[in-house]
Amino acid sequence: MQENAPGAKKNFYLTTPIYYVNDIPHIGHAYTTIAADVMCRYKRMKGYDVFFLTGTDEHGQKIEQSASAKGLTPKQLADRTVVNFQDLWKALGISNDEFIRTTEDRHRRTVQAIFSKLLDQGDIYKGTYEGWYCVPCETYVPESSMGDDKTCPDCRRPLQKMQEESYFFRASKYVDQLLAYYEKNLKGVMPKSRYNEIVSFLRSGVRDQSISRTTLKWGIPVPGDDKHVVYVWFDALINYVTACGYLDDPEKFAKYWPSVHHLVGKDIIRFHCVIWPIMLLALGVNPPVSVFAHGWWTVEGEKMSKSRGNVVDPFEMVERYGRDPFRYFLLREVPFGLDGDFSEAALVGRINSDLANDLGNLLNRTLQMIDNFCGGNVPAESEPGKIEQEIRELAARTVDDVDGKISDFAFDEALKSIWALIGRGNKYIDETMPWKLAKEGGEEALNRVLNTLYDILRLSALLVAPFVPDTASRLWDQLGLEGNPAELSIDGFAWGERIPGQKVKKGKVLFPRIDLDQWRREKAARDNAKADPSKAEPEAVPEHEETVEVEAFKAIELRIAQILAVEEIPKSKKLYKLNIDLGYEKRTIVSGIKEFFTPEELVGKRIVVLANLKPAKLLGVESNGMLLAVGDSKKTTLALLTPDKDIPLGSRVS
Ligand code: MSP
Repeated sequence: MQENAPGAKKNFYLTTPIYYVNDIPHIGHAYTTIAADVMCRYKRMKGYDVFFLTGTDEHGQKIEQSASAKGLTPKQLADRTVVNFQDLWKALGISNDEFIRTTEDRHRRTVQAIFSKLLDQGDIYKGTYEGWYCVPCETYVPESSMGDDKTCPDCRRPLQKMQEESYFFRASKYVDQLLAYYEKNLKGVMPKSRYNEIVSFLRSGVRDQSISRTTLKWGIPVPGDDKHVVYVWFDALINYVTACGYLDDPEKFAKYWPSVHHLVGKDIIRFHCVIWPIMLLALGVNPPVSVFAHGWWTVEGEKMSKSRGNVVDPFEMVERYGRDPFRYFLLREVPFGLDGDFSEAALVGRINSDLANDLGNLLNRTLQMIDNFCGGNVPAESEPGKIEQEIRELAARTVDDVDGKISDFAFDEALKSIWALIGRGNKYIDETMPWKLAKEGGEEALNRVLNTLYDILRLSALLVAPFVPDTASRLWDQLGLEGNPAELSIDGFAWGERIPGQKVKKGKVLFPRIDLDQWRREKAARDNAKADPSKAEPEAVPEHEETVEVEAFKAIELRIAQILAVEEIPKSKKLYKLNIDLGYEKRTIVSGIKEFFTPEELVGKRIVVLANLKPAKLLGVESNGMLLAVGDSKKTTLALLTPDKDIPLGSRVS
């Protein structure tokens, strides 16, 4: 990666792709965002002023179609799904500085301003577009790359022949300028294989791009011609400048844009390494310093897809294994840039070996010895011997090596390098046998060893902080240090620096070993339950209520009703207003089931209602009753109670 120009301030701007809101977040989304987070955390620890952006891509046909299938407006769908992404970033400890949604006003204004500028300068013109269009991929497919059966080369779904009036972006005009840019910026696209791919694609020529649609409504209107909406990719790419203040905050733009880097998956590099830089060149703005394209995850050898039912839910992984192990695994397991295969077994393997055995043990053994031999006091600094000198040199090399590797997005290699230092620490204990030194009265030698181990751990905490921030801070705490390593400077590390009277604070084991037999049994049970939910482990024995007389039950008036209509309640994520028919009367009830059902799943359903519940007002809406539903203890699913035969509305349940 290239650094800022000499003398320039150390700024660093990194983006993730903005994610489509027609889907729930999966491991692929988590991967890019975690990698970006590690990079940004690292740069902050190296003294950079960092701007880290992520967000959501909310326009286009895909979103419009998904929303209509769910009986929602596209904006309603986006408002619902965006929360899943924002919640996931919290669960994964993502430190983004901003979150952009393409439906925001600042973005609409920026897209329209850019469109108008390019139109005025003649780089956008009106024409007719005819071609084979892939709706799921939102892209026209050139005849040369579609299959004989007229299917999309990427998703294999049938293409549709489309013809429409369209605005075109004069991309062809800037190809030579972009080639010249890449010739000078050999890391403008990474890894190298992708660079070569892009350069040869550019050499084969780029056609002008159709950048507006008349066939859908859900998009940013073309200024002055609102029969057209701006094509979703043209709109989406602009998010990177919107959030950086292109239109509204020139100072911010001047500060961060010269240091912008994009992180993307390999499937979207043409948009990022051809179309986007050309758009920027046309605007007179410099192309990104680098675009890094990472590989794709398969799951236990298979492509991840909803129909295969093998989509890895990052929330589930975090809940089961913790966010740090998940973050560590994704970046350690596979060289960034190559494809990789995800399996829980491999994740568990890494937890037991790298995290529990290597890092956890080094901490445990060291603290135990400082406790046993020095009463918990970190021994005073002592002169290094030959072996300690060699360790210090290794540590210094590690710091440099990690810097080079992370700057080149080689996260796995950076981790390998850190773990080599950790491994050296464990080996050093075996070589020096401090327990023997303690017995034989070699106090000075013992101090030297414990001191060195303490500093290996101190440095390791700093180096692992971008990858596993919670672990680093627990480690720091157990070393008896103040503050949070993530907020410190890596370059500020100095051997032997001690606070007088410093004591270690042995705490909970960093990573308890996972018992493999038990884990296998639990995994098999989970897999069975997934294949056949009726075989799921029963819920834990619930706490029972006091027994009641039958009269108490009789006082409860449960009746059959039918849902007639479902309305949103403004600002409520959980509640719906339901109009129900009890046969003898119609009523409104408010129900907290919005997270589990779309309106069209509910309308027409026969349900059981507690009809004599005292009326109550919820968010200003009067509710006259309560529907009966049952959920699992983890609140991941909810089922409505319905009669299994047609029964007249209003019938009493007994
Ligand atoms: N909205 C566009 C990006 C616009 S950026 C201006 C988009 N969104 S996406 O939600 O479909 O995908 C976002 C990212 O997830 C892409 O970088 C893609 O490569 C990545 N992944 C999707 N599935 C993946 C895997 N199975 N493995 C790794 N990453 C994958 O594209």
